[in-house]
Amino acid sequence: MCGIVGYVGARQAQDVVVDGLRRLEYRGYDSAGIALVADGRMASDKPAGKLANLEKALEESPLPPSHTGIGHTRWATHGAPNDANAHPHLGGGKRLAIVHNGIIENFAELRTELETAGHTLLSETDTEVAAHLVERELDGGADLTTAMQAVCRRLAGAFTLVAVDARAPDLVVAARRNSPLVVGLGEGENFLGSDVAAFIEYTREALELGQDQVVTISRDEVTVTGFDGVPAEGTQYHVDWDLSAAEKDGHDWFMRKEIHEQPSAVADSLLGRRAADGQLQLDEVRLSDQDLREIDKVIIIACGTSFYAGLVAKYAIEHWTRMPCEVELSSEFRYRDPILTQSTLVVAISQSGETADTLQAIRHARVQRSKVLAICNTNGSTIPRESDAVIYTHAGPEIGVASTKGFLTQLVACYLLGLYLAQIKGTRFGDEINEVMDQLDQIPDQIQSVLDREEEIYAIAGQQVGAKSVLFLGRHAGYPVALEGALKLKELAYIHAEGFAAGELKHGPIALIEEGLPVLCVVPPRGRDQLHAKMLSGIQEVRARGAHTICLAEENDDTITPYADVLIRLPQVPTLLQPLVATVPLQLFACELATQMGHDVDQPRNLAKSVTVE
Ligand code: F6R
Repeated sequence: MCGIVGYVGARQAQDVVVDGLRRLEYRGYDSAGIALVADGRMASDKPAGKLANLEKALEESPLPPSHTGIGHTRWATHGAPNDANAHPHLGGGKRLAIVHNGIIENFAELRTELETAGHTLLSETDTEVAAHLVERELDGGADLTTAMQAVCRRLAGAFTLVAVDARAPDLVVAARRNSPLVVGLGEGENFLGSDVAAFIEYTREALELGQDQVVTISRDEVTVTGFDGVPAEGTQYHVDWDLSAAEKDGHDWFMRKEIHEQPSAVADSLLGRRAADGQLQLDEVRLSDQDLREIDKVIIIACGTSFYAGLVAKYAIEHWTRMPCEVELSSEFRYRDPILTQSTLVVAISQSGETADTLQAIRHARVQRSKVLAICNTNGSTIPRESDAVIYTHAGPEIGVASTKGFLTQLVACYLLGLYLAQIKGTRFGDEINEVMDQLDQIPDQIQSVLDREEEIYAIAGQQVGAKSVLFLGRHAGYPVALEGALKLKELAYIHAEGFAAGELKHGPIALIEEGLPVLCVVPPRGRDQLHAKMLSGIQEVRARGAHTICLAEENDDTITPYADVLIRLPQVPTLLQPLVATVPLQLFACELATQMGHDVDQPRNLAKSVTVE
């Protein structure tokens, strides 16, 4: 959600900023803009629409050369996505330009204050208020850093702000509260970005900032303070992926590339988890064995796809640890007064590590003195930083807006957590844990075997162009897979799609079935006879009412053949692990259907990659 770039150094700032914005496009946006400091003046442009509009505008009316600049891709919150509301926003004297991610909650009263003092605001945004306030401080004699600190102290809500002052040609100043911002450390140049993708082309050294901090970058210096002006320090880290990970590598979409990266992403997330003595080890889990032994309940909180990973985890964690495990949407959790104690382990699952609802939920849990463990894919992001412990997934950067490898690696992390808790609490024998680990080790090859048959799935997807509605059915761990399959289709192909627990069919959803309605059915492995038989009857029931059944079933399962209009074969894996292979055809199906319908798969309408506002 909103991409932010800042640069100061020897290169042409316009090139660095536009490149950075391109790498942040995946976050989702509806306008793009830039401001450069040149010859003591502010030069800017900010047309509504995609980055291509900005590039065209810059070609038609070039901005002057400059070595200091900021840029922004905006995902509209306050005000429509038009030129006036696009960022950067300038102060009334056009001395100061600012870009912003987040929501300034007290903007209405600040706007009234400014208007009463004679300021004219040109947009409907909360951001323009910040521009006028910072410029007023500058006009009163403050330098850009002090002005930013003073204004941030007055702002409520969540924000990243990045500003340049026409009279300070070699500085960019930024601030963050509850919203992402990282510094890129170069040689004779420095960068700012919503995430490291903004500057990965130029440097892999980054500085993570804390809460309520202001950072000032010049060519050779980076200084950090609190909003109160007290000097502070960021945490430096090395980014362990490079530019090639942020490129499409011959695929038409980042999403398709990321689906194909899943065998290695899963393998990397499993790497190094078994010690020489065969014991499971999770190095980053900073909670002691004693802390974990005392846990008597797990609550998983997450949003969207990550929530579905949590639903799968519930089956595994309860089965292996015999501990109750609840799963809740982060956005609901905080507002229902959940029962949390010191012996509750709250597990926050977030690919980006920046999702505002999940962040607020973990803060709530920690205030109640529960322990929080994050499962996250983004080093240096806020959620792991504010958690007691973290299991990092090793998916590499996920750029397609729809989560794919993020989901599969979250599943791996959840399985590892469940097995680790079982090991510590002694609810499973070592050889049982080892057996599951051996099964997990085979998963990358099994995912590859699904990918090797992608063309079959693309042909099946092609037959559904024009479908008005698609249903997904699953049972047990296949139920969250059905939900995830439906979500992928909704967000990419804009087709109405619903996932159901197959056992619920007769309680209502079966009324939706009509002649030709495509129903994708995730058939559990045959090992679980009860489950399998029940699923088969559900499929027969929808087929008897005219549904077109597309069944995902394991290789040797011939019992399904009479009831499947179309069959997609899955490798044989245990029921609990089946989501790791069964999700893949559904991802391919949604990606291909959306492609054939002419949609932008990497940047679906209205969506943002990381949802940094509540
Ligand atoms: C769907 C999708 C979203 C995210 C959700 C949570 O494909 O990507 O539903 O899963 O916004 O995001 P994170 O995991 O970053 O907290």
